[in-house]
Amino acid sequence: KKVVLAYSGGLDTSIILKWLQTTYGAEVITFTADLGQGEELGPARDKALLLGVKPENIFIEDLREEFVRDYVFPMFRANAQYEGLYLLGTSIARPLIAKKQIEIARRMGADAVCHGATGKGNDQVRFELGYYALEPDITVIAPWREWDLASRTDLIAFAEAHQIPIAKDKRGEAPFSTDANLLHTSSEGKVLEDPAQETPDYVYSRTGNPEDAPDAPQYVTVDFEKGDPVAVDGAALTPAALLAKLNDLGRLHGIGRLDLVENRFVGMKSRGMYETPGGAILLVAHRGIESLTLDRGAAHLKDELMPRYAELIYNGFWFAPEREMLQAAIDHSQQHVTGSVRLKLYKGSATLVGRESPWSLYDQDLVTFEEGGTYDQRDAEGFIKLNALRLRTLAKRAARGAKK
Ligand code: ARG
Ligand code: SIN
Repeated sequence: KKVVLAYSGGLDTSIILKWLQTTYGAEVITFTADLGQGEELGPARDKALLLGVKPENIFIEDLREEFVRDYVFPMFRANAQYEGLYLLGTSIARPLIAKKQIEIARRMGADAVCHGATGKGNDQVRFELGYYALEPDITVIAPWREWDLASRTDLIAFAEAHQIPIAKDKRGEAPFSTDANLLHTSSEGKVLEDPAQETPDYVYSRTGNPEDAPDAPQYVTVDFEKGDPVAVDGAALTPAALLAKLNDLGRLHGIGRLDLVENRFVGMKSRGMYETPGGAILLVAHRGIESLTLDRGAAHLKDELMPRYAELIYNGFWFAPEREMLQAAIDHSQQHVTGSVRLKLYKGSATLVGRESPWSLYDQDLVTFEEGGTYDQRDAEGFIKLNALRLRTLAKRAARGAKK
């Protein structure tokens, strides 16, 4: 068996690597992606070599631009938020990792793929729906659902028996579980499991405490072209560089923290803490430029479709036809979502304070409280009367009671 493993270089996926070699007798191919998680990838290569992976079986790829351009930005065109709040930072990364694993499996003639998600969560679903959508007959190995390493003690014992290096701070229980990429860092489990208890300060890693943020607000402009951000403060940036820039601003001003109890696809509720500094700014900015450039009908329909679209991404259906259909509609709506917005960043919040666009539908002449313009106020009388017709009929019936 040849297996392509989604390998972070951390303790858990190193144990999986060894387990695949020893229990499955598998030839392991490791795939490590740079999604902007902010970790060096060199050590992952060294560790894979140390654990007996052949040099030609080690794949390390910088996916930051592809991740932001082809996954994060399309999702932000929809203003997607799961259950009204979650910006889907983990959910949106899984399909890309799955796709790359399948590409490597094809190239290397591997018949199986493997991931390190548990049997209780969303990530297993997202990885595996991705695998099956792209390679229907692939064999999927999910060690957490299969092995008998039930406790941390078992895992550590396994690691020690197989000479897997263990960082000192990894010997005990991890204080909580994290997942990070250019869009967000999530933390779940352990100290966060009681939803009544406030998240301790040490859990945050991507944002400063808003209470300690600068006392002076900072203004920033974001330029959009067809629904995607292209420049910050007038400087054109690639997608990944732009998101990184917004992340820096968000970190400084403590923007994008979220403490959420959410419904996992598998049916349980879980409590998570998210930090999405740049994404939180981008959402406000994108809604701002849309407010000026989208027609009301298009805007309201988009907002109706959004929860459905967000749920599809959350549940792992990125490669499903209904997600692609919604994407086509959303992308079509963005044709004139071009222009510039100005935001004020201050102690945890990003507030939209200005917007302008060559495609603006805003007509000052029409809306002004001053005299004049093309709008005839007398037209409103008939407009209201016809809209009131049903309501008046209902009111009369109520007053009259049932006819004998
Ligand atoms: N609950 C979030 C989601 O389902 C975050 C999952 C975090 N994943 C992880 N492996 N720590 O998208
Ligand atoms: C996991 O179960 O591996 C992480 C949490 C999740 O996928 O929801």
